[in-house]
Amino acid sequence: MQGSANLNVMIKAARLAGRSLAKDFREVENLQVSSKGAGDFVSRADIAAEKIVRDELTAARPNYGWLGEESGGEDGKDPTRRWIVDPLDGTTNFLHGLPHWAVSIGLEHKGEIVAGVIFDPSKDEMFVAEKGGGAWLNEARLRVSDRRKMGEAVFATGIPFSGRGELPATLQDLARLMPAVAGVRRFGAAALDLAYVAAGRYEGFWERGLHAWDIAAGLLIAREAGALVEGMRRGEDPLETGELICANGVIFDTFAKVIRND
Ligand code: IPD
Repeated sequence: MQGSANLNVMIKAARLAGRSLAKDFREVENLQVSSKGAGDFVSRADIAAEKIVRDELTAARPNYGWLGEESGGEDGKDPTRRWIVDPLDGTTNFLHGLPHWAVSIGLEHKGEIVAGVIFDPSKDEMFVAEKGGGAWLNEARLRVSDRRKMGEAVFATGIPFSGRGELPATLQDLARLMPAVAGVRRFGAAALDLAYVAAGRYEGFWERGLHAWDIAAGLLIAREAGALVEGMRRGEDPLETGELICANGVIFDTFAKVIRND
């Protein structure tokens, strides 16, 4: 694929941060065995990765604004453009030595995501998209699945950890959905969940209680691969609410009906 200069900058930043995290991940596996200080170590790895991404993006585009999971938001001289970054999506997996986590970088222009990159170093998978340019995994074009029967479909979600307000609603979703479908997965990295819908690995994904940095890149990658993405309630913007329903276009309505309990 022929990416824009911005996309190339994002890919480079994601690779650099991914390399640093992959090095730390090998260490966290040892720390984990000795079970001392793994949490602190992971938060240091996370902060270091965000700095790598930020330094790289800021050097290339000094005027753009910023929103990062670790360092928060900052306006740029150009008020219309902003990076939205999760340096380590899937922190709990990382902490437990589970190789399913990613760097996620979105570029917002006038309130709309126009480029997205999600890099999973453990599998060397780079998911990218630009608005109107399709979605890609490494060099291959992505397309959502065309399964339309709920009984054959697999979905993913995130189950909020205990104490989070969204837990009861998610458990009710599961009670309605699980008897009707082939399977529900909970892999623990929302950015990769959206990328996997784009890749047709599962038919859909829904979650509550997310943040803009978890989903900015993934929203675009999924849409560019042919998925529909909506807020939990029609007309809401998932980037604002942190709640979304995403699925291939042929199963979306049936799936959304179950999740919305319409
Ligand atoms: C988390 C992951 C997880 C989702 C959580 C997110 P983080 O992001 O995306 O899959 O269920 O709601 O907070 O904290 O690992 O960047």
